[in-house]
Parts: sequence; C-alpha cells; structure tokens
Amino acid sequence: MEVLSVASEAYPLVKTGGLADVAGALPAALRAEGVHVRTLLPGYPPVLAALGPAESAWVFEDFFGGPARLLAGTAGGLDVFVLEAPHLYDRPGGLYAGPDGRDFPDNARRFAALARAGADIALGLLPAWRPAVVQAHDWQAALLPAYLEYSGATRPGTVMTVHNLAFQGQFPPALLGALGLPPHSFSNLGVEYYGFIGFLKAGLLFADRVTTVSPTYAAEICTPEGGMGLDGLLRGRGSAVSGILNGIDAAIWNPAADALLAATFTATTAARRAANRAAVQARLGLAADAAAPLFAVITRLTWQKGMDLLPGAIATLLEAGGQLAVLGNGDAPLEAAVRAAAAAHPGRVGCSIGYDEQLAHLIQGGADALLVPSRFEPCGLTQLCALRYGTVPVVARVGGLADTVIDASPVALASGVATGVQFAPVSADMLAAAIRRTAALYRQPAAWQRLQANGMATDVSWRDPARRYAALFAEIAA
Ligand code: ADP
Ligand code: GLC
Repeated sequence: MEVLSVASEAYPLVKTGGLADVAGALPAALRAEGVHVRTLLPGYPPVLAALGPAESAWVFEDFFGGPARLLAGTAGGLDVFVLEAPHLYDRPGGLYAGPDGRDFPDNARRFAALARAGADIALGLLPAWRPAVVQAHDWQAALLPAYLEYSGATRPGTVMTVHNLAFQGQFPPALLGALGLPPHSFSNLGVEYYGFIGFLKAGLLFADRVTTVSPTYAAEICTPEGGMGLDGLLRGRGSAVSGILNGIDAAIWNPAADALLAATFTATTAARRAANRAAVQARLGLAADAAAPLFAVITRLTWQKGMDLLPGAIATLLEAGGQLAVLGNGDAPLEAAVRAAAAAHPGRVGCSIGYDEQLAHLIQGGADALLVPSRFEPCGLTQLCALRYGTVPVVARVGGLADTVIDASPVALASGVATGVQFAPVSADMLAAAIRRTAALYRQPAAWQRLQANGMATDVSWRDPARRYAALFAEIAA
C-alpha cells in the first residue's frame, strides 16, 4: 500500500520536537508491514541540502505568492516529496519563527501551501504515484483533509494525527480566499473555529480517522479538561478517534551500540553505565559522587513539561541525597530558573541550556532516574528512551506517560512488573513525593535493578505501533 505522510518536520532533517522523531522513524517501521510511505516536507534549506539527486515532479508558476516546485527523491533515509518554495521556506530563523523568536507572520500561507501540495498529490497530480491513504501530522498539515473535502473529487483515505492539541493553527478569517478555501467553508461545519480559520479543527472534522499518539491522550482530548476547546468536536467523532503509541527508533536508541555513549551496555552489563554517569557528572560540573542517585531532565523548558515545578522540588531532591542534571531549552524565565538552581547548588545541580543530541544520549545512558513531570503529554519519547537505557522514568500520570510506565506500587513490585514511578496530580508537592519514593527505591539495590531490567525489557520499538497503523490504513484505503 502507498501512503503519503505530510509533516512539517522529520528527523534527521529538521526537528523541533517529537513530531520529527515520529515522522522520521515511522516510514521504515511501516515498510515491514508492507506499507510504502512517501513523506511531503517543506523545502527548508537543510531538507533541500540533504536531498540527493531529485526529479522535478511538478512546477507551480504561482503557489501561495511565488514560484514553487515539487521535488521527488530521498533525503535522510526517507522517500520524500519536497515543496521547494523559497518565498515560504528559505529564510533565517527556525521552522516556525524568526530569529526574534516570533512566529512568522505568514505561517498560515506557509503551511496551507504544504497541505495544498499534499492534497494535490492525493488527487492525482502525479499520475505515476497515487496514495491509497494520506496521513496529515499536526496543524501544519491539517488543512489537507479540508482541501480534499472541498475539491469534491474522489479521494484517498485520510488520517489526521495529533501530536499536540495545544498547537491548533488559528488564523484571521480574511485569509480564506488567499488560502484557496471557498466562502461557504467558513462555517461551523467547515473550517471556522471561534471566529477564526482553524487548521487543526478542519483536519479533525474532515479526516476519515483521527489518531493521537497514546490511548490515554485520545481519551483525555475528548474531555473538557484536556480538549483545549476541541473536545466537543472530538466527542462527536466517536470511534473515529483512537490512540496509537509512539515507538522510538531502535537503531538510533540502542545502548548496546550507541557511539554517543562513553560506555555501551546491555541489560546484563548495566554496571557499565557507571562510566556514562561519571561522564555526565564531569560534563555538567557535578561532584564525582558514585552513590548519589542522579536525577535527570531532558526536555523543552515549557509549562507543558511542568518545568516551572522543578525548582520547587530541588530541596527535596538534595535532601534525599540526589544530584540533578538538566538538559533543555525553551522559555527564557525557565532557562534562567534552571541556571539559578545550578548556581545555587554547585556540584549538586548541573545544567546545559541548549539542544544537544550527544548529551541527551549520554544522560540517558548514565542517569539513574529521568523526571518527566508533564502537565499533559500526548505520548512523550524521553521516557521511552529512558526505559531502553536503564534510566528509571519518574513521570506524571498523564497521556502517554500513563500508558508506557508501570508504577512501582507495592503490588507491581511484589509481582515484579514495575518499570518506574508515576505521580498525580501534577504539583510541586507530588513531584517531591515521587522523588522521595524514587530515592528510597534506589537504596534497595535488588528492587532498583529489577526496575531497570524490566524497563530495558519493555518493547518500546515501532514494531507494534507500525502494525496498528498498517491495520488502520488498510481499513480506510481508497
Ligand atoms: P516534545 O515533542 O513534546 O518536545 P517528546 O518527548 O515527544 O516531546 O520528544 C522530544 C524529543 O526531543 C526527544 O527525542 C528528546 O530526546 C529530544 N529533546 C528534547 N529536548 C532536548 C534537548 N535539549 N537536547 C537534545 N534533545 C532534546
Ligand atoms: C508532541 C508531544 C509529545 C509526543 C510527540 C510525538 O511533541 O508533545 O508528547 O511524543 O509530539 O508524537
């Protein structure tokens, strides 16, 4: 089966978060299920630079305000279509915002163009390749099902995959015409959302199926608490909404052969993690203490991730004899708070403010516990990496965190199935309590080693998720 995946980022080409990891890894996993994916990406300079010999599959003379081309080739191990449109994607700054950190003023156009190109391919623009299913990822691709709907033509099956409901893509109604949407589309039964054009709203409404990245998040977004204004619509979609957990790329995240580690290891040689631990301590200016439980955080520093709660938990963590290593970047006040904590507790709290893949691997290979106190978490990938690397995840009981970690409750410990620590509700006090509980477990070597071993034995690969996507695609294939 041929599938078109439309995403605004894909690892290793361009990445701001887990969406890129998923868009980059799922195609290879689906291959094993007999599904061939082609991924449509915006022509950001790094994507074009990575594109091998490519064929110009289509030329648009005026596409959302400038000339554009659809290039077909391979990049970063993916079969791709790249929408080369310099007026939209070739500019300084990040994927969504300029160097000043502010969203590009023409993001509506930039990502409507991506969705429109995907819709055109879905409708047979390239006679040699027609997908049976189209998967649109997040708001950036979410107008695609709407374009198909308003084309009135026979179309492939469509899946709208939500990686994060907090980002919805809302734009002024005056843009309707410029985005190529018909006047009658601006209604409650169309793209209109609280007086704006809602990209994600449109995708959720018009796609044959809505998936999100964990079963618990799929349930949460159908409630007023988790629905971020879209819960009514989602409830209305009934059984068309489902959750499929993410996996991680087992080749990139493989502790037995990870070149970014100081020492590689397996479940039976987990003692070798000590070398990674020492390397993390040295890197972040932490005392070379072999006995202190080393807690770590690897994250975007944002409210979603509960990072404002972290400073309040540090006293507890230090009282419990722990050390804290933070790798992250994001909101300036949270970055400042982490820096201040490190300055206040030299040798006990260390940080690296920035995005650093090598250090992320090293920390996963050396830390004892990974803190993930997210207020909401569609799936979360760092806890999956932690499981595979023998770092015990300490997570908020929300979304995909609830689905992927088995809490070390007395019952789970007694039956030997626990893989980490969960806490709820998400507050500084409950985070502190979870840290105390984790430190106590750490001082029981047999129980701790069992937690680590169970985590490392957990299947966090894409195998099972890929099977589920393949089955879903088969149900809706045109
Ligand atoms: P989200 O997409 O919401 O940020 P995920 O847990 O799904 O959260 O994915 C985050 C991805 O980004 C993971 O691959 C994680 O290892 C990586 N990551 C996050 N922050 C950093 C950082 N500061 N340095 C390196 N990698 C990071
Ligand atoms: C989003 C979510 C995260 C998820 C990722 C990939 O960034 O915040 O929980 O793991 O997408 O699906």
